[in-house]
Formats: sequence, structure tokens, C-alpha cells
Amino acid sequence: MNNRDGFSSRFGIIAAAAGSAIGLGNIWRFPYVLGENGGGAFFLLYLAFIVVIGVPVMLSELIIGRRAQKSIFGAFKVLAPQHGFFQLIGIIGVTTAFLILSFYSVVAGWTVEYTLLALGNQMADKTPSQLAGLFTDFSTSVWRPIIYLVVFMALTAAIVIGGIKNGIEKYAKILMPLLLVIILILCLKSLSLEGSGEGVLFLFRPDFSKITGNVVLVALGQAFFSLSIGMGTIATYGSYVKKKENLLQTALSVSFLDTFIAVLAGVAIFPAVFAFGIKPDAGPGLVFVTLPNIFNQMVGGYYFSAAFFILLLIAALTSSVSLLEVVVSYFTDELKIQRKSATLLGAFLMIILGTFCVVYPRVFNGFEWTSSNLLLPLGGILISVFVGWFLGGANVRNELEAHGGRASYVRVFIIIVKIVAPIAIAMVLLNNLGLI
Ligand code: PHE
Repeated sequence: MNNRDGFSSRFGIIAAAAGSAIGLGNIWRFPYVLGENGGGAFFLLYLAFIVVIGVPVMLSELIIGRRAQKSIFGAFKVLAPQHGFFQLIGIIGVTTAFLILSFYSVVAGWTVEYTLLALGNQMADKTPSQLAGLFTDFSTSVWRPIIYLVVFMALTAAIVIGGIKNGIEKYAKILMPLLLVIILILCLKSLSLEGSGEGVLFLFRPDFSKITGNVVLVALGQAFFSLSIGMGTIATYGSYVKKKENLLQTALSVSFLDTFIAVLAGVAIFPAVFAFGIKPDAGPGLVFVTLPNIFNQMVGGYYFSAAFFILLLIAALTSSVSLLEVVVSYFTDELKIQRKSATLLGAFLMIILGTFCVVYPRVFNGFEWTSSNLLLPLGGILISVFVGWFLGGANVRNELEAHGGRASYVRVFIIIVKIVAPIAIAMVLLNNLGLI
């Protein structure tokens, strides 16, 4: 067991887990679902779900992974051989990875297209409505999105074949902070636009009359999606974490960074949305039709836009790699397929599913809705119930207390995963199905 590969430093773990968490979910999805679901009130719900459910579920995944030292499939065979039921978490995880990665790669493909448009300076002289038209033309055409989807999938597969740590991780550690700097600059620029105040109010002033059962569910789903939890990604990374690391600190740091980037994306986008007369509920194209307008108003906008889309592409890659890894580890561990063939097979299947997402927007929406609003929360219930009721208090305390975790925190954590998280998630799901 001791020769298992592992992260060498605390920074390495946080960079890897944050690399998975921070991606299109923060910069593309968060602003658009917030815009569709009424703004400030959605934002508050999202924050509450991150703190009360997100952090404990992430911590549960880290505990499962480190305790078992196995992939999400093997983990339950080691930890609870008598409760075969929990292997369902692995099945849900792989299914969800397929669904998410197929539509995720389509959006990442849009990012590839926008990187090329930015490099070719093809958006510079366009008006806001021309930029909106550009997005519609591109996303409703068929061949170009499919080609970019294939390009993105090939990049993801190349990284997964070549190993994660010495490739993408090394670069992500340098490039993610750079992305942060660019978003900060975009925030300042966006806030300085005339008419930006309305966007700030939209984002931060809650209008509680906007809250419906569906808004609550989407906020919960977004919290799961953005933190990469509910499907075993973080558990897989947890299996590479050394015994001496403090897991609570890891979960808190990753959740904080992820939320911070989402908030910055919101602050960069909504003031500009209102300043340029774009509709906040414009849907999945929101970021792509808003940000180029800001770049057009900036000194050096050409460089900023090229750098931004390249970095967004990298953020998407550090997430897609973690998604493909869930599928590949299933193929290699359980079906005994070699890593290279497993990766190629996984990527091939994703391209087929992704093509359906391009051609049929209903498939895209269906995959997106089902994975984030149903499967991830369902996985979250099973993961917290497992850690709360079946893993055993001694095991949990051993993982949390050995290196600095205070007993009082541990007690709160156990109450949350035993009772609060499963009941809260179940209520949101049942309410949406019209059952309560
Ligand atoms: N959290 C990633 C993002 O925000 C997406 C993701 C979801 C990655 C689930 C892995 C697992 O872009």
C-alpha cells in the first residue's frame, strides 16, 4: 500500500483538487444559471449549500479516498465489504462522468473556437448584437462545434494517457493564478462601465420572491457541480493524499477558492451584462456574448481576450481530465483494460455522446440537468450516509483528529453527514419531484 503514488505537497493536493473544481462550472455555468434563476437570492442559497452541504460532502469524499487508498469502485469493497449496496456510488459516478463530460466538452469546444477568434482578432470591431449573433451562428452550426469537441477531447485524452502529475498539474499551478489575475482585472473594468450598478444589485441584492422549488434545486446542483462532488472525483484524489495532511483544511481551502472564482466571474459578468443591454437570462451563451464586449472596451483588449480564453481552456482541461479519469479508472480497475486503450475508448464514447449534445440541444440540456440536479445530489446523499452511518466513528475520527482536527469540529461534521446533509438534499429532490 505504501508504494501507492501520492501528492508530494499540500500545495499539490490543493492545486489538483482545485484544478478539478475550478473550471467552466465557475465561469460559464455559475453566471448563466444565476441569471436564469433570479440573481441575488439564488446566490445566497448557493453559498448556504456550499457551506452546509458542499464542504461536508467534499470532506467525506476525502475521508473515503484516503481511508481506502483505492478508486471509487474499489473503495467500498475495502471499507464495507458487507454493504455491497454502496458500490452504487461508483456506478452513479461513472454514469455521471459520461453525462457531464459529453456536454462539458461541447462548451470547452466553444472555448477553443473563441480562443481562435480572439487570436485572429475577429471580435474587435463587433457591436454587442453582432457578438450575440456570432455566438448563435456558431453554436447552432453543426460541424464546427463537433470539430472543436473532438479537438478538446483529444487534448484531454492526451493528458490522461501521459499522466496527470507531471503534465497538467505542473502547468495548472502556474496558470490558474494567472487566470485569477485576469478575472480580477476584468472585474475592475466591468465595474467601471457606465450602468454597471444594476448588475451589482442583480448579483448581490436578494429578491426572495424569486425563490421556487426549482431555484433551490438548481442552486444545490450548481454547488455540487462546481465543487466536483457527488461522483467520486474528489475521493479519487483523496486516495493520493498523505496521512499527515489535514483533510478539513483541504476541503475548506478548495471550497473557498472555487466559490471565490465563481463570485469573481459573477462580478466580471453582470455589471457588463446590464451595461451592454444583454439579458441576464440569456442562457448558456451568456459568458461568450458578454465578455468580448468588455475586451473591446479595454486598452490591450486583444491580449486580454486571447489570454483569457486560453486560460479558460486550461481551467476546463484540468476539470475534464478529472472526469475522464473516473471513467478510465473504472475501465482499468474493474474491466482490466489497459490504460491507453481505456483512455481512447472513454474519449471515443464521449465524442459520440458529445455529438448528440451538439446536434440535439435537448440532449445537451437533458444531460446537464440530470447530472447536476439529480445524480450528483443523489451521490451526495449516499456518500454522506456512508460516512455518517457505516464507516464507523472511530475511522472518521482517526482520519480527522490525528493531525490537528478538533473534537468539536468532528462532532459537528458527524451530525451533518449523519442527518443534516442527507435530509436536506432529499427534501430538495423530493420537493422538486412534487412528492413533498
Ligand atoms: N467542477 C468542474 C467545473 O466547475 C466540473 C466537474 C464536475 C468536474 C464534476 C468533475 C466532476 O468546471
